[in-house]
Amino acid sequence: MSKETQPLLEMIGITKIFPGTVALDGVDFMLRRGEVHCLVGENGAGKSTLVKVLSGVYPPEKGEIRLDGEEVKVRTPFEARKLGIEIVSQEPELVPEISVAENIFLGRVPKISNGSFVIDWHALSDKAEQVLRSCGFDIDPRQHVSELSTSNRHLAAVAKAVAGDPKILILDEPTAALGGKEVEALFGLVKRLVAKGTSIIYVSHRLEELFLIGDRITVLKDGKRVSTEDVKTITQKELVKLMVGREIGKQYGSRQAKIGQEILEMIHVSDGKTLKDATLTVREGEVVGLAGLVGAGKTEVLKSIAGASKVEAGEMMIFGKSRVPRSPREALKMGVGYVTEDRKHLGLVMNLTVGWNILTSVLPRLCRHGIIQYSQCNKVINDSVSSLKVNPPEPLKISGELSGGNQQKVVLGKVLAMNPRLVLLDEPTKGVDVGAKEEIYGIINRLAESGVGILLASSEMPELIGLSDRIVIMRDGTTVAELAAEEANEEAILRSAIGG
Ligand SMILES: Nc1ncnc2c1ncn2[C@@H]1O[C@H](COP(=O)(O)OP(=O)(O)OP(=O)(O)O)[C@@H](O)[C@H]1O
Ligand SMILES: [Mg+2]
Repeated sequence: MSKETQPLLEMIGITKIFPGTVALDGVDFMLRRGEVHCLVGENGAGKSTLVKVLSGVYPPEKGEIRLDGEEVKVRTPFEARKLGIEIVSQEPELVPEISVAENIFLGRVPKISNGSFVIDWHALSDKAEQVLRSCGFDIDPRQHVSELSTSNRHLAAVAKAVAGDPKILILDEPTAALGGKEVEALFGLVKRLVAKGTSIIYVSHRLEELFLIGDRITVLKDGKRVSTEDVKTITQKELVKLMVGREIGKQYGSRQAKIGQEILEMIHVSDGKTLKDATLTVREGEVVGLAGLVGAGKTEVLKSIAGASKVEAGEMMIFGKSRVPRSPREALKMGVGYVTEDRKHLGLVMNLTVGWNILTSVLPRLCRHGIIQYSQCNKVINDSVSSLKVNPPEPLKISGELSGGNQQKVVLGKVLAMNPRLVLLDEPTKGVDVGAKEEIYGIINRLAESGVGILLASSEMPELIGLSDRIVIMRDGTTVAELAAEEANEEAILRSAIGG
């Protein structure tokens, strides 16, 4: 076989077993030179595990990896790098306390220190700036990672991987945390890399993306490869059927909710920083969408209602009383549930079991005279795991071992277990598969039908349009417009979000 026709990478019969879970069961995967090969499947299908095996994070129980036709061993991430394999993982790990530039060259610093042991900081910054610019990202390399927004943190992780000049670049859910502008920059980068021969493995739940940048798509289901398809010859509907095993009908479902009294009113609320002026209302049984570009202040609105950030000015009426919760705990006591976008740092205690995570917020309520009512606890946990279809449905599983999408469901379960009357959702379907999305939309509809008011911040416009009764649009920390469900469309929302 000539070098051109020989695949760059072959993974043959890869099996990976975790205690109690066969994450990969004899999976074959082949990557051509200069192709974008997408990997899709439901939450827990094994996508992240497969790319982690390839990048030396997990050793497989069985199987073989060949690069350029030769068998290789990838025992550590360091070995993967030496072989030209770089990964941007689903929850990228950068060191928050140091600068973007230092992160980009972490482990590679000596190369640019002119042969001596002294690091030339200026050269480091300049070089990082070059990398960031060549990627098309607008990030200051001197900034500390801790000061970056979630989206810029993801882009910085991409730049770090690109700086290694990989033969194979793996992107695991790169766009889940990005807005439209950032996604465009990333796609531009992918196209430039492919043009110079880099091969890309691209994992995403946003199926429409695959059709924009993918060449082939491999579908995984329950740790097995279902099929590999050419993007040109498969439709999105067929793809969903391969992934989920059934057709998805009306994704957003419907609801018959009675819209009642106002339960939240924000009047010119400001946090003295990003949030300049938020004015909006939410009523019982109503789903209010919050739209806006990345950085427009959607998360800040939710945080200020949830007591997760300070309110400096303005007034807030919650359940008819003028008050501002001082902490998420106090908000929860009032009946305000907050589902954060940052499940890794704020949403879950990763090394606790699923059951304990769900219990943390409700435990005080389940104690009588200082004694925990265990039967009640089990009921709360089991109801939550089954109504959210957490997979695997095992309350004793360590949360950090769940797939990304299933972690998201546990965060939701934890808040809903408190029976809040106002629910604040920040990107609730980030990293969630199509089937589970439909389930979460169902939960939102049922909550609204039971009289709960919902404020939904999302960067997925179809989701906002499909679910909301009204959509409030933010720009530059300010609520600038409001659209009724009937008049909302992507163009109208974007026009207000961009302004001018
Ligand atoms: N470190 C681990 N320990 C134990 N089990 C794990 C671990 N990592 C993953 N698993 C399990 O392996 C299976 C595959 O998980 P994986 O993270 O690969 O799914 P995924 O396809 O990436 O899903 P998602 O779309 O939610 O990110 C899941 O059942 C998961 O719970
Ligand atoms: Mg994953």
